[in-house]
Amino acid sequence: MSDASLTPLPESVAIIMDGNGRWAEERGEPRFHGHEVGAESVRSVTRECARLGIKELTLYAFSTENWRRSEQEVGLLMGLLAQFLVQERDEIMDNGIVFRAIGELDQLPPAVREEYERTRDMSAQNGGMILRLALSYGSRRELLRAAQGVARLALEQGEGAVEALGEDDLRRFLYDPSMRDPDLLIRTAGEMRLSNFLLWQLSYAELYVAECCWPEFREAQLHEALRSFAARERRYGKA
Ligand code: IPE
Ligand code: IPE
Ligand code: MG
Repeated sequence: MSDASLTPLPESVAIIMDGNGRWAEERGEPRFHGHEVGAESVRSVTRECARLGIKELTLYAFSTENWRRSEQEVGLLMGLLAQFLVQERDEIMDNGIVFRAIGELDQLPPAVREEYERTRDMSAQNGGMILRLALSYGSRRELLRAAQGVARLALEQGEGAVEALGEDDLRRFLYDPSMRDPDLLIRTAGEMRLSNFLLWQLSYAELYVAECCWPEFREAQLHEALRSFAARERRYGKA
């Protein structure tokens, strides 16, 4: 199928990459195997989004709630993340991708943070698609921090400042104030929930749930989601 069936393209796509564990367990493999194959899906989906001209791709890789998983699974995920950050550098640079992360990055193991900062700094001057990983990310935490930020601002400014606050004042305190609101949210593995992801930014996103698990979500499944998006009518409350 030609790329024409995929237009209009969303400028910004967000994905809740779910079902790695189930995918592996269905095959009699340990959950970690699903995360490893899932990393290959990240690679192909990123490459295809960049090729198509999507401007921003935000991937939910690890939530604040995911810290409650077994120590073993968390450790393996952090190791995989560090490995991904090193291995993907060439691919990121070759494709002119700008790499960023949002979340409570202080909570990441120092080795992961160092690799992240290196990849971020190296890619900062690139001019292509923004690839943003949500790491130790929770939307309520993000909104609480933003509320604290605007409260501090209003205290400094004094009388009348609270009433003068606008939506952009709150946005300034989000993890990445320059992030575009996603036009399309994809979630894999059939689950119909947001799981504490981008509650502010997804206000008007189109939702798409894929039945397949994340390790199986590749170019063809991405195209299916984009085709569904292209056929939507976005009304933003208008009649
Ligand atoms: C998504 O897959 C990856 C992360 C949340 C880190 P899961 O690990 O949630 O897989 P399921 O949902 O248990 O199958
Ligand atoms: C959401 O998936 C978080 C990520 C994809 C990183 P979960 O598997 O953690 O979400 P729940 O527990 O099904 O809501
Ligand atoms: Mg899950």
